[in-house]
Amino acid sequence: MDKRFDTPVILNVIQLENEERWRRRLRQFMPYLQEVFREFWRDTFSPHFDSKCPVKLKLLQAESAGALKSLLFRSGNAVTSDASRCCLFILDIMVPQEDGRGEEQEINALILDGRPLPDWLDLYFPAIPKLCLTRLGAEAVALPPGWKDLEFKDSMENLDRLKMTFRRLFRKWWDSPFWHELKKYASVDAAESWHTPGHNAGNAFLRSAFQGDVYQAFSMMSFATDLSVSVDKLGDLSEPLHESPLNQARARTAEVFGAHESFYVTNGTSTSNKAMLMTLLRPGEVVVLDRNCHKSVHQAVALSGAIPFYLTPRLNRRFSIWEPIPLADIENSLTAACGLKNCRPRLLILTTCTYEGFLYPIVKIARLCEELGVLFYADEAWCPYIAFHPYYVSGEGMEAFRFDAMHGGAHFTSQSTHKALAAFSQASMIHVSANFARLLESNGNRKWNWLRERFGHAGRGSYDRFRHELVEILRYWHSTSPHYPMLATLDRATVQMRLEGMARLEELLHLVQDLVSNVNDRCFSQGKRAILDMEDILGPHSASTLRADGYIKDPTKIILGFGSEKNCSLFKKELEGAPIQWEKSTDRSIEFLATLGTFRTHFEALKKLLFRHLDIIGVKKSLLRKAPKVTLFDGGSTLGTTPRFAFTGDAELIHLDEAVKEGRVCAQMLVPYPPGIPILLPGMLVTKSAVALVNDTIRRKGAKEVHGLFEHKHAFCLRVLTRVQEQNFKRKHPMEASIIKRVNDARASVERQNVS
Ligand SMILES: Cc1ncc(COP(=O)(O)O)c(C=O)c1O
Repeated sequence: MDKRFDTPVILNVIQLENEERWRRRLRQFMPYLQEVFREFWRDTFSPHFDSKCPVKLKLLQAESAGALKSLLFRSGNAVTSDASRCCLFILDIMVPQEDGRGEEQEINALILDGRPLPDWLDLYFPAIPKLCLTRLGAEAVALPPGWKDLEFKDSMENLDRLKMTFRRLFRKWWDSPFWHELKKYASVDAAESWHTPGHNAGNAFLRSAFQGDVYQAFSMMSFATDLSVSVDKLGDLSEPLHESPLNQARARTAEVFGAHESFYVTNGTSTSNKAMLMTLLRPGEVVVLDRNCHKSVHQAVALSGAIPFYLTPRLNRRFSIWEPIPLADIENSLTAACGLKNCRPRLLILTTCTYEGFLYPIVKIARLCEELGVLFYADEAWCPYIAFHPYYVSGEGMEAFRFDAMHGGAHFTSQSTHKALAAFSQASMIHVSANFARLLESNGNRKWNWLRERFGHAGRGSYDRFRHELVEILRYWHSTSPHYPMLATLDRATVQMRLEGMARLEELLHLVQDLVSNVNDRCFSQGKRAILDMEDILGPHSASTLRADGYIKDPTKIILGFGSEKNCSLFKKELEGAPIQWEKSTDRSIEFLATLGTFRTHFEALKKLLFRHLDIIGVKKSLLRKAPKVTLFDGGSTLGTTPRFAFTGDAELIHLDEAVKEGRVCAQMLVPYPPGIPILLPGMLVTKSAVALVNDTIRRKGAKEVHGLFEHKHAFCLRVLTRVQEQNFKRKHPMEASIIKRVNDARASVERQNVS
């Protein structure tokens, strides 16, 4: 066995069936299934190494739906260790009742926790393949999308055929076609290269007296697989319709992440956001968005020419953290924006989860958007893993929902695969939901007429046209030489999450829980809490309102709190000495990310250091019981022009303080760290509160912590539109100027509502 695995990797096949003879049949078949898996593993995951398969398949059988539930869940949404290793559900098309008694019924008719069984399984375990066993000649049963049926009970007579069927199914569920072809080409089929890239399979490094160490350090495969677009048969990122291993991999990704279609992006989610927003928005249209969105979203809005209707941001002064926007504020803003005559908003954009791990109740927001005819775009840069564990499900019965955008009802999402999963930096995915494709292609609701016109073809809404436009815009953004090894990691991350995502998340959730309880228990005697949850960060009142609306905090974003700036800096020095590198920090908090690559040893090292410094970490509980000071970022979102006009127009540099006095239109982004969210954006009127925040950061941290600031001889300047350009905007763009006035008025009234 491979040295990395002290114990074999167990994958569980879970069967629901109450007739003993059929259960026995599957037990008898298991050795054959294991043999097929072993071959599949060797071909897929280890084709050029003669290593022994470390994976063992284990069969777990349940006689009733109730027994299945107890096999899967411990309490709440915590899964059993058997469930966390589940790789396949095998169910009879006729299933026993929940209590195991009574008549058998068709799988769709069985209700578990208020939902049909297939729905229930898809809610908690959407990425795990499900196979329904039928009998030859039995009546066809309508299965949910992605489910597979198999005439198993009769095929047992012909084992070889059955093995072949499973071989095909394994490839369908867990193969990584792009990685496979890329590796095969690099190690077996590669022709003598007379094409890009110039290093020529690493030769330019290997045969140089000065580059040989680079070749050794990066190793042969990273050069051999770096092929760019010169090898046709692997596929081309900008040709989504051609049959190719790359497009087969994308199709698998869509299936695993629950999307209608997924797109691979090699320039990070920054590019995913820009391509999507430029596809969806038109100049002069209103888009409702979180002011705390990542700068790539603001850049995308500027590029699209749209007019932003900002949700009022809330700055938590205790920890210098931007809080999530409450549901009531989102509702108020959306409703106000939809009340604007002849300029109803087209899109809502939210970051979920936020940098600090707050997850929005996607399903409620999606429902609201559908009622209003507004598309919903979720930036999930920080949480590409939440579709892979039942922890990320909330609510009961038919009201239960998943927090991930694709299963929660949003129309689009972008995810930084590289931020939390096993992929190279910049690897990102765009997912488009089946819900969006349906809205676009159905003829129903008039609210969506605008969408069907936007992406219309031959008199009706066309998904193909939408894809065509998105791909065309992606061509504007993507390099024409994408990094193929990066694409291969997107393909492999998909398969990994399907096969072991749940087990890794289960392990991470346990490790985080163990860290939190150990550290906070030790702080308890000193009247402190160190690792903060939602209540600690937002205060009990605010947290309970958000919880009641369905918000949660993702525990894998670990926030360590401090009672003073001094203690926070002292502990950072200890971390540097350890050395342990954190993700981000503010004056009184440090954030650690637990990702797919974080293991027990990481937690042990951090825990040890925390235990050694209990005197400096943590915040007094008496303080945490009080509500933190929260600044509603007043007036900081009033527009003078569209972001695009300000960003591209003639501008001048003037002193920061002058810009406020003269009420100028900002023509750039200004981003103070922490918390690293743009405080001034192109098109916005410069306000006192924004400049005060910038000056405060300069005073305490230095000018280099305000990204975008122009410093000359210790004077700080801001790029603002010239007065002539301000006048030109009103003269040349009267329509947009009038929409901006209405957006400003509507926003001001929403802000008054939010304050009261
Ligand atoms: C919310 C959010 N969206 C998008 C991005 C951009 O992601 P990437 O680094 O993959 O370009 C970031 C980066 O930090 C982010 O925080």
